Amino acid sequence: MKGTSLGATVHYFTTRLLNGIQKQEKIKPYKVSSIQSVPSHIIRPSYVGSISNPAIVKDPEVHDDTGIHHMRNAGRLAASALEYARSLVKPGITTDEIDKAVHKMIIGAGAYPSPLGYKGFPKSICTSVNEVAFHGIPDLRPLEDGDIINIDVTIYLNGYHADTSKTFLCGNVNNNAMQLVEVTEDCLEKAISVCGPGVEFKELGKIFIDIAGKYGYSVDTSYAGHGIGKHFHSAPCINFCEDQAGCMMAGQTFALVYGSAEPLLSLGSIEYELWDDNYTFVTADGSLSAQFEHTLLITKTGVEILTKLS
Ligand code: MF3
Ligand code: CO
Ligand code: CO
Repeated sequence: MKGTSLGATVHYFTTRLLNGIQKQEKIKPYKVSSIQSVPSHIIRPSYVGSISNPAIVKDPEVHDDTGIHHMRNAGRLAASALEYARSLVKPGITTDEIDKAVHKMIIGAGAYPSPLGYKGFPKSICTSVNEVAFHGIPDLRPLEDGDIINIDVTIYLNGYHADTSKTFLCGNVNNNAMQLVEVTEDCLEKAISVCGPGVEFKELGKIFIDIAGKYGYSVDTSYAGHGIGKHFHSAPCINFCEDQAGCMMAGQTFALVYGSAEPLLSLGSIEYELWDDNYTFVTADGSLSAQFEHTLLITKTGVEILTKLS
């Protein structure tokens, strides 16, 4: 991952000018509350409590009928947790409060919140507000009217992970931000619609670049989709590059993610900066970033979105 370190004490009072219409302060780091506990009966992924970081598993996740059954259950719970998170988004609530509520719901369903303790991540979900592109840590910042917030939920149930994220609107969001969010979701849906056995992963990148290009949005190519199932992150790494190798296989599960940023100063791919917390990636020019992610199952005839509630 690329990015330069910013001092956590730097104050981001620079204002962002959105097409000359709206000025908004940049997001700055707030206090992060203490770590939440998980009841001992809940089965943890093997990386939790281990001193070595989990490597990205080199084999793709291809499942038999039992595995598919577990993936469907994991997907359904991840989707319900994300819908619950959506219902909490409103001006005044802190991302810490959202994290605590979703944490409670996930453990109540007998599952483990996969980010908690993954490479030292201190919270159960990722919350990325405005120009925070991904892996934002829930903290004591109250959401403001006009914010956009990506909430990324991954759960581990009966030995299987499912991963999904959406960008939500908080209160009255300006038209530019609303369009960025809508187009980004649309891009992901269009890409999902072409998925199926034998389809090359590189087809997906073409769709994103096509649609994003029409709106002048930058395409996020550093943040990648990934195999998911028994492991949180496995092959393939799906990053929309032209040379992306491989085809989708029946029985395979992977998380497909798409992010884009508003046209401001950046053109082409997005430049990021990494906060001192080593997780929070913000767009270098302060432009708004939206992102959506689904866990997919390739079936014999097409694709099933495991993290979509029917
Ligand atoms: N859910 C994220 C993904 O899409 C990963 C979060 S891991 C964390 O892959 F450590 F940052 F939480
Ligand atoms: Co995710
Ligand atoms: Co993911």
